[in-house]
Amino acid sequence: MSKSLQAIRGMNDILPEQTPAWRYLESTLVSLLDGYGYKEIRLPIVEYTELFARGIGEGTDVVDKEMYTFLDRNEESLTLRPEGTAGCVRAVLEHGMTGGGQVQKLWYAGPMFRYEKPQKGRYRQFHQIGVEVFNLPGPDVDAELIVLTARLWQKLGLTDAVTLQLNSLGSSEARGAYREALVAYLQERFEHLDEDSQRRMSTNPLRILDSKIAETQALLVDAPRLHDYLDAESVAHFEGLKARLDAVGIRYEINQKLVRGLDYYSRTAFEWVTDKLGSQGTVCGGGRYDGLITQFGGKPTPGVGFAMGVERLVLLLETLGLLPEELNSPADLYLCAFGEAAELAGLGLAERLRDAIPGVRLLVNSGGGSFKSQFKKADKSGARFALILGEDELAARVVGCKSLRDDAQQETIGWDALPAHLAACLQA
Ligand code: HAM
Repeated sequence: MSKSLQAIRGMNDILPEQTPAWRYLESTLVSLLDGYGYKEIRLPIVEYTELFARGIGEGTDVVDKEMYTFLDRNEESLTLRPEGTAGCVRAVLEHGMTGGGQVQKLWYAGPMFRYEKPQKGRYRQFHQIGVEVFNLPGPDVDAELIVLTARLWQKLGLTDAVTLQLNSLGSSEARGAYREALVAYLQERFEHLDEDSQRRMSTNPLRILDSKIAETQALLVDAPRLHDYLDAESVAHFEGLKARLDAVGIRYEINQKLVRGLDYYSRTAFEWVTDKLGSQGTVCGGGRYDGLITQFGGKPTPGVGFAMGVERLVLLLETLGLLPEELNSPADLYLCAFGEAAELAGLGLAERLRDAIPGVRLLVNSGGGSFKSQFKKADKSGARFALILGEDELAARVVGCKSLRDDAQQETIGWDALPAHLAACLQA
């Protein structure tokens, strides 16, 4: 097939055999979010480029190397969203949703776009479910977000497969002081740094801390430590968060090198990671971003949130065999109709059955065909019962009802008795 008729590298079709797992994950999380009082917000996929440049930060990989940016017909620079936080902050500001200290607890879901090198668990179009909370400055809400994610792992059977990495990045002043100390330390060892880290010295030095290069990590062993620079308020906030996690028995690992790839964080930063997916093991990441809203011209407004990667979580559930078997359960009923009159009557009968048996999965044969071919299709569909409506049945206002999963004799049931009969059969 010519290249232009293929999907773009790193942008995947989610095929019908995969979508049940996606829906399972999404609906499990969404019902949890409902239970915690979070409300859905739907946001555009495209925003002005400046929103991301200012929000995520020049010097981050996302902004410098990974954005899908283009000029529209009006010569305005637009970008496919690489993440959801910046757009969500824009929306709450634009609609005055955080004015007067209003608390907002929001969630969103959808595709994000980053021009990364595609590999297992890393794509150019990927999907996130994200949560953002506004106007709650305390560690109690940071804890709530983490508790909520822990509950999701429990519901999905993933508790033993993920661990929580936790850090505090302090206030922006504290981080600034730490950045200076780190740069001074690394400057003396500049020629021993890998190329990427050398570049980051001028753009985003804190990112050097999570370099994957062993030599760079060795150099960092004696480097200044972030937590020696934390301001007193951030320390108290972090202690408050840890106390709450301890109180509900959520284990965590403090990782002072966890700085995250986006520039807007202050204080809490966290990631849930798994060792079951190879190098792309972060399934959920987030933190506090109390300074972001003023950066967008709003009044000082605390913000905190996270986003999880849907592809990675589905992959993890598949890898660990944790998808419920009934996800792919086939239809309940397959209606075969022979001849035009029976087909017409069958259509009405099928709709009456849908009214009478809520949630019934009823396939109506399409495209006609002989008895043999329709019966074969009924069998292949995986349905539990075939309903047979030919000219004789039509004349007698009955339907043949044949179990496709055992050798039970075909029964003949009157149309009026059919809904109750089928409901009972399906419950058995
Ligand atoms: P992030 O760490 O860039 O944070 O992304 C969150 C999650 O999205 C990652 O942990 C990962 O599971 C998934 N993800 C990221 N990039 C890819 C990719 N290329 N392919 C597949 N999955 C990917 C954020 O986006 C922040 N907006 C999270 C946040 C919300 N912080 C505060 N509020």
